[in-house]
Amino acid sequence: MKIVLGCDHAGVEIKDAVIAHIKSKGHEVVEVGTYTTDSCHYPIYAAAACKKILSGECELGVLICGTGIGMSIAANKFDGIRAACCSDVFSARLTREHNDANVLCFGQRVVGIGLALDLVDAFLDAEYANSGNHLTRVALLKDIEEGKL
Ligand code: RB5
Repeated sequence: MKIVLGCDHAGVEIKDAVIAHIKSKGHEVVEVGTYTTDSCHYPIYAAAACKKILSGECELGVLICGTGIGMSIAANKFDGIRAACCSDVFSARLTREHNDANVLCFGQRVVGIGLALDLVDAFLDAEYANSGNHLTRVALLKDIEEGKL
């Protein structure tokens, strides 16, 4: 898969290890910044990453900020993006399987590098269930985006 990775200054310190790990799993990584610890604004990088997914260039995304929360709030402003802020492996797996999440967010100030890589593994290795109530519920999310619900 082609995975887009974005972060802000509060996520930049672990991003290289995350990228190396994703590549070691056989995936391609497209970076959208930031690249330094200079203070910056997470919505800019969340938007850049989400556009790569919505254009079809990338299949899934990983966004890192201090908490993961700002990135997830920003990413979920985009129709078609289902971003989950996770700090446990179970949620990172289930958000792919049940919510068809296409963006994983986490916080460098919340998780250590070991847990960060486990979150990435759980998210990238899982597959959307694509059946039954999960289909219905993800379709209802689309209805919300389209103002039908
Ligand atoms: C930056 O200080 C911090 O607010 C940001 O990285 C993120 O945690 C916001 O949700």
